Amino acid sequence: FLVVFVILLSVLSLATIKIGVVLPMTGGIAAFGRMVWEGVEVAHELFPDVNGETIELTIFDNRSDKIEAANAVRRAIDVGNVSAILGEVASSYSLAGGAVAEEKKTPMVTPSSTNPLVTSGKKYVSRVCFIDPFQGWAAAVLAFENLGVRNVAIFMDVEQDYAVGLANFFMQTFQELGGQVFFEYYKSGDQDFTAQISDAMLTGAEALFIPGYYQEIALIAIQARQLGFFGPLITGDGADAPETISIGGDAVNGLYFTTHYHPDSPAVTENAKLFLERYTEKFNKIPAALSALGFDAYMVIRDAIMRAGSADREAIAQAIRSTTNFPGATGIINIDNEGNAVKSVAIVKIEDGQFKYETTINPR
Ligand code: PHE
Repeated sequence: FLVVFVILLSVLSLATIKIGVVLPMTGGIAAFGRMVWEGVEVAHELFPDVNGETIELTIFDNRSDKIEAANAVRRAIDVGNVSAILGEVASSYSLAGGAVAEEKKTPMVTPSSTNPLVTSGKKYVSRVCFIDPFQGWAAAVLAFENLGVRNVAIFMDVEQDYAVGLANFFMQTFQELGGQVFFEYYKSGDQDFTAQISDAMLTGAEALFIPGYYQEIALIAIQARQLGFFGPLITGDGADAPETISIGGDAVNGLYFTTHYHPDSPAVTENAKLFLERYTEKFNKIPAALSALGFDAYMVIRDAIMRAGSADREAIAQAIRSTTNFPGATGIINIDNEGNAVKSVAIVKIEDGQFKYETTINPR
């Protein structure tokens, strides 16, 4: 009987493929984790299996913390015995977790981490989003050409690799165009930005560029308006959470940001339509970029497993790197030898407490 039981067990476990989903489900950027998970759920409901086997998803919470970000990936691999990892959201956490995935030769696909270093020099870490040199370029062109500003204060979250990188890429293009920048610094979790805002105003900033995350962006916007700064506010994808509006209120009206997706941007693929339909049906709201990216990360991993024809980590890692013309919810996805996708940037503006799609900027 025991033998039969053991055989049955191994047959059952053979019939599933495990993917570890490493996200910030609690802590400072929990809204990001929730949005990605929603997109992953939609994809999993639509496509629950691959090669005749069921895909089993397990969430590992990184608690919005760098050390936990590495621990969560280690747990997914050592304890969860996963074939691949979907995650993480923030670049700092993908850098910490990605080092573990690389060391343990386990494929990892981040939906959203845009800092170049996340994949650079690695064989196992890839992404389905654009990278920050392009995002920073797009934001700088928007500021200089479309909004006509020449002097920008960059608010840099020194704790986030994403923010430090994007601030510098913005600066490069903005200066090349003939504009001037100067920096104000803060840390994730800060609440009071009045000193930096006052300094930016004294220095003659016409606009603020804030390449951080929603909590601090919203607070900086509120305090800037209170202090009498009424110039344009520009941010990156880190503003793409409903929390920017629920926390920021009126202060974020008029804010522009660069991002990956907006439901009103022209849907280029069947999967984009499918995703939008199912997401709205299931959640009764409009999806954010992170949900579309979560959907895409799942779909790309599943497609790679299909092409690899097995649950072997090495084979899946190679298949991910040879993803070509995959029709994602956020656009066509090609993953190059460096693990990066080349995608377009969407410009979104907050108007009357809503995210309004402005335009799409295609890769140079
Ligand atoms: N690009 C951000 C980072 O690398 C993460 C992010 C993507 C946040 C999209 C919101 C929306 O840290």
